[in-house]
Amino acid sequence: MAASLQPLFSAITFLLLIASLIGSSEAAGIVQYWGRGHSEPSSLAEFCRREFATDVNIAFLKDFGSGHMPELNVIHPWPSAADIESCQNNQTKVFISLAGPSNLSSVEDAQEVAAYVWNTYLGGESSDRPFGTAVLDGVELHIHSGNPNYLDVLALALKGYPNVTLAVAGECPIPNLFLDPTIRTGVVDQVRVEFFDNPSCEFLPPNDTSLLFRSWDSWSDYPGVHKLYLGIPISSSIASEGGYIPPNELVYDVLPYLQNSPVYGGITVYPYFGHGVTFKSLLRSYARAV
Ligand SMILES: *[C@@H]1O[C@H](CO)[C@@H](O)[C@H](O)[C@H]1NC(C)=O
Ligand SMILES: *[C@@H]1O[C@H](CO)[C@@H](O)[C@H](O)[C@H]1NC(C)=O
Ligand SMILES: *[C@@H]1O[C@H](CO)[C@@H](O)[C@H](O)[C@H]1NC(C)=O
Ligand SMILES: *[C@@H]1O[C@H](CO)[C@@H](O)[C@H](O)[C@H]1NC(C)=O
Repeated sequence: MAASLQPLFSAITFLLLIASLIGSSEAAGIVQYWGRGHSEPSSLAEFCRREFATDVNIAFLKDFGSGHMPELNVIHPWPSAADIESCQNNQTKVFISLAGPSNLSSVEDAQEVAAYVWNTYLGGESSDRPFGTAVLDGVELHIHSGNPNYLDVLALALKGYPNVTLAVAGECPIPNLFLDPTIRTGVVDQVRVEFFDNPSCEFLPPNDTSLLFRSWDSWSDYPGVHKLYLGIPISSSIASEGGYIPPNELVYDVLPYLQNSPVYGGITVYPYFGHGVTFKSLLRSYARAV
């Protein structure tokens, strides 16, 4: 095989092996992001058709708190209600992801942001709904910046509305300033941890899973974690501080260990900035190349 095909081959192996594993484990999910990638389909419906995802996050709503409501920051035309419903009708749950910076200043402030998100993207009502009548399935709190105050109140307020699946995403070192109080509320349905770009809690090549597994175990025992997701980079080029797991290691060494955990939920695939190609388009290029 030509050297240039090697990464392609790895990604395809990865997809196929993941697909077979997911098939064997009915609870497992694959979480992906849409909204910030220049090389991803600009249509969300097309992304859902092409990709292999049980959950897709629209990335991102940004910058909220102190009376400021989060703003939609996707680089594509906004998806229509029909786009979103076509994903949902095909077993892909659609989330809106709230990125920082967060600057919540009080209980009321956090509740107001929750009400805004409910009314604008979920089951509430507003004259200003970017996705029209579509009702999203959930919210991801993906806060890495700003201040961590009242994020637990925001989580509780969001879960106070009916039919909201709540996810959080964050980095692997424990404690996590932005996630800790929120997870401890016990209302978070999915905890999506990024096990990369943090040498203290990631896979170490060629074959050292000890730090990764130690961190996974600590996260599994974290009070309030019901479903835990392994966040991994699709290629080593997007994780400059490490954590990329080659497909064989992932499938034969890492996933079997995680799947023994009662809280194992699945995997989250990064990036969300569309470096390079996505799974299904890789498959297509490969078919052309051989
Ligand atoms: C539904 O999802 C499958 C698997 O990803 C995909 O092959 C199919 O094209 C999708 N269908 C629609 C209508 O989105
Ligand atoms: C956060 O909000 C306070 C007001 O509550 C404001 O004074 C401050 O400038 C804000 N900080 C940022 C980073 O926006
Ligand atoms: C919650 O979802 C279920 C199933 O889709 C639906 O039947 C029910 O009406 C929803 N409840 C509310 C309050 O939206
Ligand atoms: C990685 O290490 C584990 C545990 O030492 C071993 O069982 C496995 O065969 C190794 N895998 C590879 C590809 O070297």
